Amino acid sequence: QMNERESMFMVSNYAKDYFHDIMLNTNKGKAIGLSYFKERGFRDDTIKTFELGYCLDEWDGFTKAALKKGYDLKYLASTGLTIVKETKQFDRFKGRVMFPIHSMSGRILGFGGRILTADKKAAKYLNSPESDIYHKSKILYGLYQAKKEIAKQDNCYLVEGYTDVISFHQSGVENVVASSGTALTPDQIRLVNRLTKNITVLFDGDAAGIRASIRGIDLILEQGMNVKVVQFPDGEDPDSFAKSHSTTELKTYLEESSKDFIEFKVSLLLKESNNDPVKKAGVIRDIVTSISKIPDGIQREVYVQECARIMDISERVLFSELAQLLKKGI
Ligand code: CTP
Ligand code: MN
Ligand code: MN
Ligand code: MN
Ligand code: MN
Repeated sequence: QMNERESMFMVSNYAKDYFHDIMLNTNKGKAIGLSYFKERGFRDDTIKTFELGYCLDEWDGFTKAALKKGYDLKYLASTGLTIVKETKQFDRFKGRVMFPIHSMSGRILGFGGRILTADKKAAKYLNSPESDIYHKSKILYGLYQAKKEIAKQDNCYLVEGYTDVISFHQSGVENVVASSGTALTPDQIRLVNRLTKNITVLFDGDAAGIRASIRGIDLILEQGMNVKVVQFPDGEDPDSFAKSHSTTELKTYLEESSKDFIEFKVSLLLKESNNDPVKKAGVIRDIVTSISKIPDGIQREVYVQECARIMDISERVLFSELAQLLKKGI
């Protein structure tokens, strides 16, 4: 006898195959869904690897097909694939291209669906609702496709979006996962921590991208992992950068632009503080807070020495600040 979650996995897997098949083998699927991905430069093998698809712009095409196949409306509703309103049922992802979200072992947990038009009223991406199988805060998009390469390279690139993951993969950088636009969580970091101790965070080239990522980074340090950052030119995201550069250029950029996080944070904050002594004191506290998250004492000491040098202040000041924070158990 199957339990509820098992039934939800089964209907999700069916949906993944259905959307993929519709996109590759129907006229509308090809003309609308497939051409969208082609225009974005995604190759056939990439579309297969990520099992991308399309949900026709009809009210209940998918729902009807699933019911006909014998899938229970109960699980179509609990996975959010079908929206049930009194006696009416319709497809949640109507008219969107589909990004199935796999678990580490390849099971389908949920979907992201992107709108094709630049309709300002509708959300660009729609995601599966929280359910017994889909917990947004515990998922990293692309992990299933990336896990082997993360272990092999002993490093994981962390990006924001679905298409960032896919473009990198297509460019030959396969050790990449996305937080999917949410603030990074400890559960997401633990997923990577099982494969490597090294995370490289890739910022979108705008202030918002940098701010958002900095908040997540102390959480990575707390798990005893090493964090590097790569900043992209203003207005670029990893997808657009990968599309406009060769694989060699991309790999070279990633290597040459990657900075140790603490070093990056110090220089960013120092620039912002403009030598104002009050602000500089705030910067010191901010940096020491990050350092205090590092579980390893020797590593903390190395960072203190390095920060003292970059910030041109005495190690003694940093160490006493650090000691206070550690005593408070922050
Ligand atoms: N996102 C979301 N809901 C939205 C907007 C964004 O869930 N309304 C998530 C998606 O996972 C998206 C990520 O946040 O991939 C990053 O958002 P954004 O940078 O706006 O999108 P891109 O990934 O760059 O997508 P595209 O290139 O298709 O515009
Ligand atoms: Mn590949
Ligand atoms: Mn962004
Ligand atoms: Mn983006
Ligand atoms: Mn983008």
